[in-house]
Formats: sequence, C-alpha cells, structure tokens
Amino acid sequence: MLGIFYRLMYVAYQKIYGQQQMLHYPLYKDSEQDLVQGQKYFTDHCVSLLPDPRGKRMLDVGCGNGLQTLYIHEKYAPQYLYGVDMNPMHVSIAREEKAKRTLDRIDFAVDNAQLLSSIADNSFDLAICIESSHHYPDKDAFLGQLKRVLRPGGQFVIADLVRKEDREPGRLGKKFFLCHWAPQRYRDALARLDLAILREEDLTDRVRQAFRNTNHWFTDTSFTDTRVTGVKTRTSAPKPIGRFYGQFLTSLYKRQIDDLLQYFVIVGQKTQAASS
Ligand SMILES: C[S@@+](CC[C@H](N)C(=O)[O-])C[C@H]1O[C@@H](n2cnc3c(N)ncnc32)[C@H](O)[C@@H]1O
Repeated sequence: MLGIFYRLMYVAYQKIYGQQQMLHYPLYKDSEQDLVQGQKYFTDHCVSLLPDPRGKRMLDVGCGNGLQTLYIHEKYAPQYLYGVDMNPMHVSIAREEKAKRTLDRIDFAVDNAQLLSSIADNSFDLAICIESSHHYPDKDAFLGQLKRVLRPGGQFVIADLVRKEDREPGRLGKKFFLCHWAPQRYRDALARLDLAILREEDLTDRVRQAFRNTNHWFTDTSFTDTRVTGVKTRTSAPKPIGRFYGQFLTSLYKRQIDDLLQYFVIVGQKTQAASS
C-alpha cells in the first residue's frame, strides 16, 4: 500500500508541477512562499541543526526521490552524501535526477532503515532522516542501526510527524505503514541505546502556518522551479485534476497536524560512551 501511495504522489507532482519535488511538509518562512520553497526551507532548517557538513560524510535515511538529498549536496557540499530508501521507484528517480546533474560524491541505494545493510559500521559523521521514520514499524531497530553506522561523536537529526498521544497503529495505519510514535517513545528508545539528545523542537505551528495560504500553490501560472540547479518556469496553470489532487492532499496533510499529530525534531549524538 505504501508503494501505491507514493506512486500517486509521483503522479500528483507530475500533474501539478510537471516534475518531482521533495516529499515532506513545508516550514513557514514568509507569506509569499510556495510549497517547494517551504520544503527547501524545512531542509535548510534541519541541516542547520547539525555541524557544518563540509568535509563530512553524510547519510540521508528514507531519502525518497532524492531531491532533498541533491539539494543538500549542492547547497551544503558534504564530502560524501549517501541516500537510502526502501522504495525502488524512489531510488531510481533519485539516480535519474543525479544523472541529470552529472554529480559525484553522492550515491543512492535501496536499503531498509531498520537494517541499513549497505552501510559499514562507524562510517558516517552525520545523518538526517526527514519524515520517514513514522513509516518504520521497528523504530528501535532503526535507531540501533543509526548508532551502528555513525562514528563516535556523529550527530543525527530526525524530523517527523509524531502522535500527540501515544497509541498503536490501527488496521489502516498498519497497511500504510503509519507507525507514528509519541515524542516520549523516541526519548526512551534513545536513552536505552545510550544516544544523547542534544536538542528537541516542536515545529507544528510553523508547519501549520505554511499551510495558511495554499491557493496559489496550485493555480499560479508563473511557477518557478528553483529546485536545485537551473530555473524552469511553468507557463500554464496545472490542469483541473492536478489542482484538485493538490488541494486534496494539502487538506489531508493540514488536517493531520490540526488533529492527531505534531511535527517533532530531535537532534542526537552517538557519544564516546555509546560506542564502547
Ligand atoms: C515522506 S517520504 C520523505 C522522503 C524524503 N526524506 C523527503 O523528505 O523528501 C518518506 C520516505 O520514507 C521511505 N521509507 C518508508 N519506510 C522505509 C524504510 N523502512 N526504510 C527506508 N525508507 C523507508 C519511503 O519509501 C519514502 O520515500
């Protein structure tokens, strides 16, 4: 079911933007921003919570279609960036997008966050996981793998939707891999693994604010893609089906953070003690 959901997202983006975009919520910066700008701003915010990536090996867990990973690569120039995702469709889009830009020092692979079997122990300085961990049924395994692949002193950011109140996923939730934890569960799991929490943020209001004026996201005729490299301008508004789809998804996402969920960020570190 998760594969079908992301296939529909793929179609939605094609219909709305004529191309793929990042796959996470936007963060509010200013009232003129559109979805794409808000998503980039979200990514910038997450990266800003980590030490400067230059000269460092960085891992993007649940990298989706790779657009966020490519954005980080071009803007923040880590020594090496590795994006993994369980969905082969996303990894092949990521590789195609990479090929369009003829980049090196970045790779993508199909891998499960709960296994990270393509990654050696102690091999990354930094890791991000943006809006992916709510899909992992075994988050203890994911956090254990994060610990394994980070070098001692390595830091990570997990940004994701969490439950306001803790409860197990229902039947539908399980089908769509919607396994949100409440914040306390992350804290407890990190403590069990001896991973330090450096910082926590609740971004719910700033994410909600980004949804205040969404009409122009799907109707503007002058959409400018400032995605990573190059500038592409859409000369006509998306077709009605694209607008409808965009508005439907937007209202669904907005409802999630109005009712059940909040947007939570946790920054952590594998300390020397944790590695021994
Ligand atoms: C909402 S998207 C976010 C993608 C990307 N981080 C971004 O922000 O653009 C969630 C991604 O998590 C991936 N995912 C879900 N379960 C996974 C798992 N167990 N291991 C790796 N990736 C997973 C999905 O395939 C999807 O690409």
